Amino acid sequence: MDGGGEAAPPTAHPAVQPLSFLLGTWRGQGEGGFPTITPFKYHEEVTFSHHPSKPVISYSQKTWKLKDSGEPLPMHAESGYWRPKPDGRTIEVVIAQSTGLVEVQKGTFDEKEKVVMLKSDLVGNATKVKEINREFKVVNDELTYVVEMGTNVTSLQSHLKASLKKV
Ligand code: HEM
Repeated sequence: MDGGGEAAPPTAHPAVQPLSFLLGTWRGQGEGGFPTITPFKYHEEVTFSHHPSKPVISYSQKTWKLKDSGEPLPMHAESGYWRPKPDGRTIEVVIAQSTGLVEVQKGTFDEKEKVVMLKSDLVGNATKVKEINREFKVVNDELTYVVEMGTNVTSLQSHLKASLKKV
């Protein structure tokens, strides 16, 4: 320490370190669609937080619609835990959605490419949804993701895509 009074930033747990590119709060816009619904746009905030003593990232997401006047209108929200394995390559993610649907996602990540690819291992308490794929990527400080879903009547295809910036 040089006595400047600046605290060193906390380091991440070794399992979380390769996913450091996700950590923080991101805000931006997205758009959604599906063959059975009317396309829509939304605003979103996502936070990935951690503690250096734990091999896990806490995930929380909320979305809203901006109205012409008055308060923003909340849309979908979800939260969960991202659990990267010590192999530096594979990950499992659990997510609870505001709609009551729960997901266990399994997949891989690439520290160098700053990509995480997830496929549902379990979708629970859902009336229509059979499978969900999620892909996240950070390029030039921009977090983009796509979410695909398959339902009992529609094959796996895009439901959401969004682009967020670190705040
Ligand atoms: C519709 C699932 C995330 C907004 C739907 C439907 C399903 C679904 C099953 C109905 C499709 C149909 O009737 O065929 C999911 C899943 C999500 C997700 C699994 C996450 C993995 C979101 C998010 C938003 C959103 C983040 C908003 C920001 C909507 C809207 C509709 C819809 C506006 C149309 C509703 C309507 O027309 O009544 N979603 N959704 N969804 N979703 Fe999502």
